[in-house]
Amino acid sequence: MFGVKIALLAAALAPLASAQSDADCCCAALADSALKACLLLPGQTAYESRLDSYFDKKQQSITPNCIVQPKTAEYVALAVKTLVASEKPCKFAIRSGGHTPYAGASNIDDGVTIDLQYISAVEYDADNKLVKVGPGAIWNDVFTTLEPLGIITTGGRSSTVGVGGLTLGGGISYFTAEQGLICDNVLQFEVVLADGRIVTASQTENPDLFTVLKGGNNNFGIVTQIQFRTFKYDGMWGGLVVYPQTTIQDHFNALVNFANNVEKNPKSAAIVMPVYQSSVGSDLILVAYDHAEPVVRPAAFDEFLAIPGNISDTTAVTNMSALAAALAGSTTSSVYFGTLTFANDLRVMTEAHKIYTEVLANLKEKATGEWQIYILYQPLPPVYWKESVARGGNVLGLERFNDQVLCLYQPYISWQGAEQDALFQQAGAELVDRIRTYAKSIGADNPYLYLDYADITQDPLASYGAENVKKMKAAAEKYDPEGVFQKLVPGGFKISKVA
Ligand SMILES: Cc1cc2nc3c(=O)[nH]c(=O)nc-3n(C[C@H](O)[C@H](O)[C@H](O)COP(=O)(O)OP(=O)(O)OC[C@H]3O[C@@H](n4cnc5c(N)ncnc54)[C@H](O)[C@@H]3O)c2cc1C
Ligand SMILES: *[C@@H]1O[C@H](CO)[C@@H](O)[C@H](O)[C@H]1NC(C)=O
Ligand SMILES: *[C@@H]1O[C@H](CO)[C@@H](O)[C@H](O)[C@H]1NC(C)=O
Repeated sequence: MFGVKIALLAAALAPLASAQSDADCCCAALADSALKACLLLPGQTAYESRLDSYFDKKQQSITPNCIVQPKTAEYVALAVKTLVASEKPCKFAIRSGGHTPYAGASNIDDGVTIDLQYISAVEYDADNKLVKVGPGAIWNDVFTTLEPLGIITTGGRSSTVGVGGLTLGGGISYFTAEQGLICDNVLQFEVVLADGRIVTASQTENPDLFTVLKGGNNNFGIVTQIQFRTFKYDGMWGGLVVYPQTTIQDHFNALVNFANNVEKNPKSAAIVMPVYQSSVGSDLILVAYDHAEPVVRPAAFDEFLAIPGNISDTTAVTNMSALAAALAGSTTSSVYFGTLTFANDLRVMTEAHKIYTEVLANLKEKATGEWQIYILYQPLPPVYWKESVARGGNVLGLERFNDQVLCLYQPYISWQGAEQDALFQQAGAELVDRIRTYAKSIGADNPYLYLDYADITQDPLASYGAENVKKMKAAAEKYDPEGVFQKLVPGGFKISKVA
């Protein structure tokens, strides 16, 4: 009798079952495996709080059919094998810190998000003077582990950003002039390939994979551990200083000279940022000064420090974790990042600021709610890539620029409400486009686009140059012949889409 009832019930449920999406089947396949205990499903508190922890609202509003949180490389391999083996296509996203601001970089609708939150151990290996880091760690975890030991490694300047994504895009730190880009401080990656093999990529093992991971992001596999060089450290000097907008030309002058002399002052770093916050309502200049030893007001900043009239000043002898905490990312806004590179040329900066003033005036007229805009100007000098080749190479293609001193430009805009997405995204794109056009008109343009700051409408992989595109395509073909990371992982910048 029960048998009959169950059969009837099953028949009644059949239409429902067939309405299941492919992605639901993928989650069911994961639930049938040893990953059952690592699954988060819609409606669960843990699922919702993982979504809320994305840096950007657009990424937060994407709802994967399930989130899988493997705790080891073996479990990541099992997840990849299960998803790839499914008859129905199982699309997935790869998430470390979740700090990319464009929608779908590290989250997915109609798919599975592989979330590396629990692959985040930070372990210092004193014998080999290296630190082993799980990609799901945030930079605060790395700094607070190393600092008390009197050592540090190159890392992101905001405590909340993920180790995985930042490193695989290049990585700029306060230590870059002296120590090189963050990706060039990697000694070894552990990687789960499309077929579920767990391999090492270093200068001696799979060196072609080692090179393309440094800038090639999520095109080749899922990185499950990164070993970084470390170096001695006994504190820093630095902080944030706010000035009135009237000082902008003095700051550009100081920045151009500072960038031309980075090689002589490799411990010093500076970022000049025109800023507007609707809640404050005035046009300001924010400058981050940072020096990699505890020396108060080092000489490299003399020209900056002679600029009078600052409104507030947090500079002090401090440490990396405190500096990074001051730039912790909030998760309450929609965010636009975009990027552009041009020559370290006062004319471009001056024109860029004029264009910014116009774009800002339009936003002030049309935008509602709380919003903010920061424009980051950072030096990108040849010493940043001096050691790249010797350390196994990366694919950023910066060597092409020989001894040119460059400037890295980034609009960072945040706002409330999806209905304003188009307004702010367009403002960001307009800044980048108009400044590029001007830079070209005076021969001060540069093709490089920094992946970690790029909007999805930009093409950073192509900007690395033809030779590096060829290297990345060859490595994708060799390590992922079926194109799993091209077809099943739609998020991020895809090498298969580069002509
Ligand atoms: C507040 C803030 C401060 C920042 N400061 C800096 C800075 O100081 N220096 C700098 O260079 N950049 C900086 N950035 C930019 C930052 O590098 C990028 O946003 C980066 O993508 C963040 O990495 P994530 O792991 O948090 O991101 P995620 O969104 O999790 O990942 C980014 C991309 O990498 C892929 N990916 C992530 N982990 C893996 C993995 N383990 N294996 C394979 N693919 C993977 C993802 O699929 C995704 O496409 C900052 C960003 C923010 C929001
Ligand atoms: C870093 O600085 C902060 C605040 O300045 C302090 O609380 C912390 O103890 C310091 N950490 C180390 C390891 O020195
Ligand atoms: C900011 O202004 C104060 C007060 O005049 C001054 O003491 C301080 O040195 C200034 N800071 C910088 C970084 O110039």
